[in-house]
Amino acid sequence: MSSRRAPTTSNTYRLFYSTNKIVITPDEKTNWLGEGSQGTVEIWTFKNRDPLQDEKVAVKMTKKRRSIRQAKKEIDIFNKLGEHKHLVKLKGYYWNSNCTLQVMELCCGGDLFEMVKKRTLNPHESLHILLQFFLVVEFLHSNGILHRDLKLENTLITSKARTSQGVTFEIKVCDLGLATELKEGAFASNLCGTPVYYAPEMAQGLAYDTKVDIWCVGVMLFTMLHGDYPFELDNTARTPFVCNQSLPNNLKDYLDCLLMADPARRPTIGQCRAMVNHQKGHPEV
Ligand SMILES: Nc1ncnc2c1ncn2[C@@H]1O[C@H](COP(=O)(O)OP(=O)(O)O)[C@@H](O)[C@H]1O
Ligand SMILES: [Mg+2]
Repeated sequence: MSSRRAPTTSNTYRLFYSTNKIVITPDEKTNWLGEGSQGTVEIWTFKNRDPLQDEKVAVKMTKKRRSIRQAKKEIDIFNKLGEHKHLVKLKGYYWNSNCTLQVMELCCGGDLFEMVKKRTLNPHESLHILLQFFLVVEFLHSNGILHRDLKLENTLITSKARTSQGVTFEIKVCDLGLATELKEGAFASNLCGTPVYYAPEMAQGLAYDTKVDIWCVGVMLFTMLHGDYPFELDNTARTPFVCNQSLPNNLKDYLDCLLMADPARRPTIGQCRAMVNHQKGHPEV
């Protein structure tokens, strides 16, 4: 086990890196990455004894009392879940009564919200991202976790590759701050998340389950393709969404299913994956 004590300064944090307990000192706080309801996220550089092992990481710092409780729950859920290719990795954490620090792998490509602000994504690009969402949501739901805040801002781009059909974006979902455990067959009832992403049953104050995450994937798919949300605030699904008629039929079908107002008719994540497998036999994009 590699273990090294850092100088005792207020900047010293004891972090738990996978199985190795190492004590590290933030070397410098450099760039601001983002800010959400819980706190700020910055790039920190941790210096190691061997400079070649210096590491840039993303550190989410939470200082508000209410958010600290939430951040601890987030850490618990990250630990329970373990790793997935499309879920950001929590590499370490620290907390005391005044703050929590979550040390995450650094995803350098920015978030999807910033990307879509610059331009809409074409059907190939959107479909590639949709399939990654299906994989990570399947991972969450099969582990009994409801995310409740899936949105473009919480989707990080890890790499981009230009192809003849556009850019292939590899993504990772972050921010389990509103995630909760939900046993099979159980329902939750508290309103949370981001209003333009509220599923109709949640917006109406009804009990809801994992289908709210499926709705959010539908909102993201629509927004990537159109550069705008499918529903206006407070008008969730009351007026039907209008999609671009030039979209390939399979994407229109996905939108119709994912944004089904009645949660009982909206597919589960298993059914979403089955739809994809069925479509693979009849590819349009
Ligand atoms: N690991 C990371 N790498 C790069 N940027 C990140 C990372 N984690 C978060 N961010 C950026 O910081 C923002 C806020 O982080 P998030 O975990 O969503 O916090 P909050 O719970 O406050 O919304 C994200 O929208 C994203 O832009
Ligand atoms: Mg967030």
